[in-house]
Amino acid sequence: MPQALFRIWRGERGQGQFRDYTVEVGEGMVVLDAIHQIQATQATDLACRWNCKAGKCGSCAAEVNGMPRLMCMTRLSDFPPGEPIIVEPMQTFPHVKDLVTDVSWNYEVKKRITPFRPRPPDAPDGTWRMSQEDVDRVQEFRKCIECFLCQDVCHVLREHHKHEEFIGPRFLVHTAALEMHPLDTADRIAALKREFHIGYCNITKCCTKVCPEQITITDNAIIPLKERVVDEFYDPVVKLIQLVFRP
Ligand code: SF4
Ligand code: F3S
Ligand code: FES
Repeated sequence: MPQALFRIWRGERGQGQFRDYTVEVGEGMVVLDAIHQIQATQATDLACRWNCKAGKCGSCAAEVNGMPRLMCMTRLSDFPPGEPIIVEPMQTFPHVKDLVTDVSWNYEVKKRITPFRPRPPDAPDGTWRMSQEDVDRVQEFRKCIECFLCQDVCHVLREHHKHEEFIGPRFLVHTAALEMHPLDTADRIAALKREFHIGYCNITKCCTKVCPEQITITDNAIIPLKERVVDEFYDPVVKLIQLVFRP
């Protein structure tokens, strides 16, 4: 049976080193299968997070050969034979153990974003009517599985550590889903500028490249939100109207 060499980060709280493991490679194997094989046969204490093994829970996010990826959706056949496959934890979040990081910062960020606030029902049966076009626009954003791979790759968080200020691409997608929702009445534009610092995003599009749900994060979520911020704060016509009609 063919074999593959895995080089896996082992350690706790940021301290550790890579260790090598040889894995028997079977047809159709993914990186998570190899991790499970190593756990079963060579390192029972190897920590990794996973749940669905179907690319839908977002738990198995890690870095494989330097790229943020879901381990359960990454086939061994994608890599050149004979070269080690390097698996590390995500770098943007605090390290816990081996391949596990603490992503709880993301849940705190989500709590700061004004939730969905629908307008009153407008149909005789007490429900709402929306055009299909408006529904389609936000549907893409709802595919997010909260793997946080986009947060991991974004240089604003990864290299500049702006976790206190910048909410990151995942939560710009979440905000876009709310702002573009045809029934929503809340206004998050001022918060996007002042509290969530959307201006830190310089449209590198790295987030879009790593999204396993193929959400067009930058073009469909971030850029339209940036345009709304510009319209609200910098549009000269809007500024003039505000000046003339300010009480
Ligand atoms: Fe993951 Fe994509 Fe959601 Fe980011 S937007 S958390 S990469 S599914
Ligand atoms: Fe970061 Fe994506 Fe913008 S990677 S800089 S949020 S385009
Ligand atoms: Fe659920 Fe990989 S185990 S996405």
